[in-house]
Amino acid sequence: MTTLTKTEGEKAPTGPDSFLSVRDLRVRFSTEDGIVKAVDGLSFDVERGKTLGIVGESGSGKSVTNLTVLGLHNPKTTTVEGEILLEGQDLVTTPEKELEKLRGNKVAMIFQDPLTALSPYYTVGRQIAEPYMKHTGASKKEARDRAIEMLTKVGIPQPKTRVDDYPHQFSGGMRQRAMIAMALVCDPDLLIADEPTTALDVTVQAQILDLLKDLQQEFGSAIIFITHDLGVISDMADDLLVMYSGRAVERGGVREVLREPRHPYTWGLLSSMPRLGGSTSQPLMPIPGSPPSLLNPPSGCPFHPRCTFKDQVSGDRCSTERPPLGEGRAAACHLTAEQKQTIFIDKIQPRLR
Ligand SMILES: Nc1ncnc2c1ncn2[C@@H]1O[C@H](COP(=O)(O)OP(=O)(O)OP(=O)(O)O)[C@@H](O)[C@H]1O
Ligand SMILES: [Mg+2]
Repeated sequence: MTTLTKTEGEKAPTGPDSFLSVRDLRVRFSTEDGIVKAVDGLSFDVERGKTLGIVGESGSGKSVTNLTVLGLHNPKTTTVEGEILLEGQDLVTTPEKELEKLRGNKVAMIFQDPLTALSPYYTVGRQIAEPYMKHTGASKKEARDRAIEMLTKVGIPQPKTRVDDYPHQFSGGMRQRAMIAMALVCDPDLLIADEPTTALDVTVQAQILDLLKDLQQEFGSAIIFITHDLGVISDMADDLLVMYSGRAVERGGVREVLREPRHPYTWGLLSSMPRLGGSTSQPLMPIPGSPPSLLNPPSGCPFHPRCTFKDQVSGDRCSTERPPLGEGRAAACHLTAEQKQTIFIDKIQPRLR
């Protein structure tokens, strides 16, 4: 067990309430080519002490969603609509100054690319120590000790000397770990981890995942975990959100979704990804076609141009009517529950063995 520190009383009592609640989020970018609809009516919840996994192809809006939660979008070129409720406070309408106070303290992010988070001009130690001093009022000495402690936790060798290195003196994997140390230094209530361990070797990856689990156990933190690795997702997540074209197409408990997915896109995604403990005799099957244009998204169901099962839906509903995502365990698809089950058992399940 690690000994993560936080003074008593800083956290609200943990409970089954939703800590983060995103409702009908729409994120649009104005570009030279037109309006990019990167997130288009997305809703999800993350409970205290729980981990929400997010999967989806490249460009489905995973990073944009989470950067928007932190308010890290360019307000000049980005339009954000909908609600991002953090313990009831709407972050969409919260002034930047207040968001700055939340970031790094209550809410922290591990970025896909460590160079986005680390400045080349300051030592690694200073970049870990500063948010700690700012948010806890610790002294310089205490913060430096804390930085060394964090570097040790993320497995940086000789942390007492490496604390004074600049990011360029670290290898890529070490930079990734330093950024994780920076994100965790204030024991955030909500941690967003965007592909946090993809660049790391297996041993270090396991160490980092354990660290995240410790954080969660000790402080009841909520975690959003984005990854392409289904093994990691099934190990880390409680709930799973499958994103396509800036929307949620399927949601549910991670085990249920992985065991019995209900959306044709999820079927494609699972057939195209290596499975933990899966048979190697089943070839991976890429989803035919390519992700849709976000400048001019398809009408109706965004997946219909690539869906091999749309003929089983009567009329032209798939191309004209946007299928809603119901509450709880749900898939946004016009196939009936019975059709989904039959197709899954006959055609999909044998591929996933
Ligand atoms: N500032 C921006 N201006 C215009 N388009 C953008 C901007 N930022 C992101 N996008 C577009 O929004 C879409 C969603 O991007 P996002 O980075 O969220 O994808 P992702 O799901 O995280 O993909 P990956 O798995 O590759 O990380 C992409 O098509 C991307 O090109
Ligand atoms: Mg991304």
